[in-house]
Amino acid sequence: MNIVLLGAPGAGKGTQAKKLVSEFGVAHISTGDILRAAVKNQTELGKQAQKYMDVGDLVPDQLIIDMMKERLKEDDAQKGFILDGFPRTTAQADALKEMLDGLGKTLEAALQIEVDFDTIIKRLSSRRTCRDCGHIGTASEESCTVCGGEMYQRDDDKPETIKNRLDVYAKQTAPLIDYYKDKNLLVTVNGDQDVEDVYKDVKEAIK
Ligand code: AP5
Repeated sequence: MNIVLLGAPGAGKGTQAKKLVSEFGVAHISTGDILRAAVKNQTELGKQAQKYMDVGDLVPDQLIIDMMKERLKEDDAQKGFILDGFPRTTAQADALKEMLDGLGKTLEAALQIEVDFDTIIKRLSSRRTCRDCGHIGTASEESCTVCGGEMYQRDDDKPETIKNRLDVYAKQTAPLIDYYKDKNLLVTVNGDQDVEDVYKDVKEAIK
């Protein structure tokens, strides 16, 4: 299973990726998670990425492409992968195709999770993430319902940053919907349903 997840910030990409990974045992490659870890550890990549992430802009293509070239060569990615947050521009999509050709791999689907922006704003404002296990939940969870860890709010889930992330998505990432449609790889699910119902549709779409 080699799949790209497409969808606006907050559409549920991370939530559905975790479910696919736990059922199918493939690698979950989230560029957002990799970048947040790099920022936390103040690596060279993290220092360069932070100023873009803080305001909800995209990190420059070349930094992301170099990072993904290495990540896709790691052992866990050889049994399949879910790409969550990459590609986000047509330059990244072209680079991904080149990387996969070089590794002798093929992309099986680009799965778009569709949710309207009003719903997304509500979701992101109330999103909380577990510091220990990465469980994604909401402000109604005082502590993590999976491991009991502390739930925190992402810096980029503040209202003005959410708005910019949605603008950036519309301008720079939404064109990938037609990009993958033209390649006959696009499948779309309605993400504005209960998490389990979305997952049922996801599995049906990628069957
Ligand atoms: P990233 O971490 O990738 O953020 P994103 O795309 O904005 O996606 P999110 O993680 O916000 O949302 P999601 O779709 O995963 O939703 P989730 O499942 O969490 O990127 C962060 C930043 O890093 C970017 O802004 C950029 O600066 C940089 N970056 C990353 N990749 C890059 C790249 N390739 N190029 C350049 N820069 C890059 O769900 C959201 C909330 O909704 C949660 O609270 C969840 O519980 C809830 N929820 C989920 N599904 C449902 C449902 N069905 N019903 C009700 N609630 C639901």
